[in-house]
Amino acid sequence: MGVNVGRKLKDAGKQWVIEDAKKKGVYWPTERMKEKAYFSDEKIYAEASKDTRGFWAKHARESIGWFGEWDADKVVELEPPYFNWFVGNKTNLSYNCIDRHLEENRNKAALIWVPEPVDEAKQVLTYMDLYREVNKCANVLKGLGVKKGSPVTIWMPMIPETAIVALACQRIGAWHSIVYTAFAPHAVRERMEDAESKILITVDGFYRRGKRIELKRRIDEAQVLEKVGAENCVVVRRLNSEVEMKEGRDFYYDELMNGVEAYCDPEIITSDDYGFLLYTSGTTGKPKGVMHSCGAYSVGVALTMKLVFDLHPDDLFWSTADIGWITGHSYALYGPLLVGATSLWYEGAPDYPDAARWWELIEKYGVTIFYTAPTAIRALRAAGDKWVEGRDFSSLRLLASVGEPIDPDTWKWFFEKIGERRCALIDTYWQTETGGIILSSLPGIGPFVPGVAGPALPGVHCDILDETGEAVKPGESGYLVVKTPFAPSMLRGMYKKPEKYVEEYWSEYGTEIYFAGDGGIKTGMEIGGQPLIKITGRIDDVMEVAGHRIGTAEIEDAVSDLDEVVEVAVVGKPDAIKGEVPALFVVLKSGVEVPKAQMDREIVKAVREKVGPVATPEVAYYVADVPKTESGKIIRRFLKGLVRDEALGDMTTAQNPECLKELAEITKYRGPQKIQGYNA
Ligand code: WTA
Repeated sequence: MGVNVGRKLKDAGKQWVIEDAKKKGVYWPTERMKEKAYFSDEKIYAEASKDTRGFWAKHARESIGWFGEWDADKVVELEPPYFNWFVGNKTNLSYNCIDRHLEENRNKAALIWVPEPVDEAKQVLTYMDLYREVNKCANVLKGLGVKKGSPVTIWMPMIPETAIVALACQRIGAWHSIVYTAFAPHAVRERMEDAESKILITVDGFYRRGKRIELKRRIDEAQVLEKVGAENCVVVRRLNSEVEMKEGRDFYYDELMNGVEAYCDPEIITSDDYGFLLYTSGTTGKPKGVMHSCGAYSVGVALTMKLVFDLHPDDLFWSTADIGWITGHSYALYGPLLVGATSLWYEGAPDYPDAARWWELIEKYGVTIFYTAPTAIRALRAAGDKWVEGRDFSSLRLLASVGEPIDPDTWKWFFEKIGERRCALIDTYWQTETGGIILSSLPGIGPFVPGVAGPALPGVHCDILDETGEAVKPGESGYLVVKTPFAPSMLRGMYKKPEKYVEEYWSEYGTEIYFAGDGGIKTGMEIGGQPLIKITGRIDDVMEVAGHRIGTAEIEDAVSDLDEVVEVAVVGKPDAIKGEVPALFVVLKSGVEVPKAQMDREIVKAVREKVGPVATPEVAYYVADVPKTESGKIIRRFLKGLVRDEALGDMTTAQNPECLKELAEITKYRGPQKIQGYNA
């Protein structure tokens, strides 16, 4: 296998990306890669464009099992901004992930789980193991009163029980809402309250970077269960630590599973009924509950496993993403199981006990497809090449990246040191809202261009529009959109907030064009008639901190609750490893005499308690004022310009332009005011 360097591009002319690509190299799949790939003919783009509905209908039939048929003329029913796919047909996600594979693959490994402590053995769950455990767990949930459509909140790390519980929810049609373990108990509470969830499934704790992270104890300390009026809490024993269990409300998972019936009928769910909720950050302080469908979501995710990851039965697929994010949902759990593959799960940190851990796992288990985030690659690269040198990466054949644009430097290091110039490296763009990948080059077709995500997938109509809604010309930048008929895996609504759903995604260009919130450049390169797109990043108040999506408003809400604080504005400051880190501009009440170190500590504590360690701010500027519009809205654009050392542009829109002088001086001459009081 190998990658060809430098085949001539069919370039459309003047665009800088081509120049850039020429300098840095454009990569194409080799003959062997094409031979192995399911998709190696670029005609697939034209075919899918010509008959998009036919394309999806064909793949919906091939990708998953259905309990019926959809009306031939109802592959998709559009009622913008709502849409339904495979109308009227029925399915079940746990059936598709497990039962469907039993006949041929019951003894195949579904999940290989590697605990963080190096002296603990790995665990393998075959499809049969998973079947048994999921069925039992589904009966346990039923026993606790969970029904079709019940929201079930899950605060769990990367351990096998998390997969079992999520699939058990799918089996009975309950909607899981999984919360990232590096969020705070307060974040669990907010999500339980919003979903009106009466049950929490969690663990006593787990290992992270050698530390014992005790989740149930933290839930109890914050009195989350009392405050939300939870009826039940199920606790998985991972650490066997001492936890408080309230009689009649809290139960140990293993005790509930003991002796429960081993079969549970899968609930028959229409394609467009909901499969799960996943809360994500938007432009307000409150996270929003993105609603995903069941059948249509599975079709999108299953197809991308073959189309984008070219996943074959003998592959070992490793997505390093945590289950608390959409990448964990779609590509650590559902995607690999939908296609009957083996998925590797690792409990802990990439650099525990040292920066060789991930590379050792690839070598030891023979990972063939490795999917991770640029921030992790940058951090491991910064740890030094000595951790990768001399390792056997010969099992790998495909590398993939997600979460933020992968800069050409990181791309090259990843490609050369890990992929050994043999493996294709694809940059996959998507969001919680799109459910699955919507933009990426395909491994058997290419091209692979450092810094450029690629074309929209076959069957997905993306474009880059200018402010007036016109498609931009090659070489120009604008906003990324998805056009009708949208993609089957895309969100179906925002839980209990239909007006927010319309406002966030369907207002910019009307209800027939999905507005992604990212900027992009239509490069002059094309493949199969599709422009290659370079994603430039969020254009709203959402940050990507170490690949984790955090709303600036969530941090602002946490900090402005402090007594000393009058006002706070948060922007993303560029960071060499994490991509962005939260930078705070804090206005204190006049007369507050707290020393900076103490104020820093209070701020960090507030953010860690309300949002979680993942959002810990790194830089704070204490200022007299922040720039605002006439209507009092903070002009973050100025603050972003300041922390990025960019031109500030027109300042006449600020009602208090005098504060900009102070801000410019603080950021320029005093340098970033590194937060004190946090050293994790
Ligand atoms: C960003 C993660 C550039 C983007 C799957 C998007 C990317 C947000 C890429 C969604 C990529 C994701 N290149 N940017 N390949 N992939 N993003 O919802 O800003 O956690 O809007 O989903 O991540 O983050 P989310």
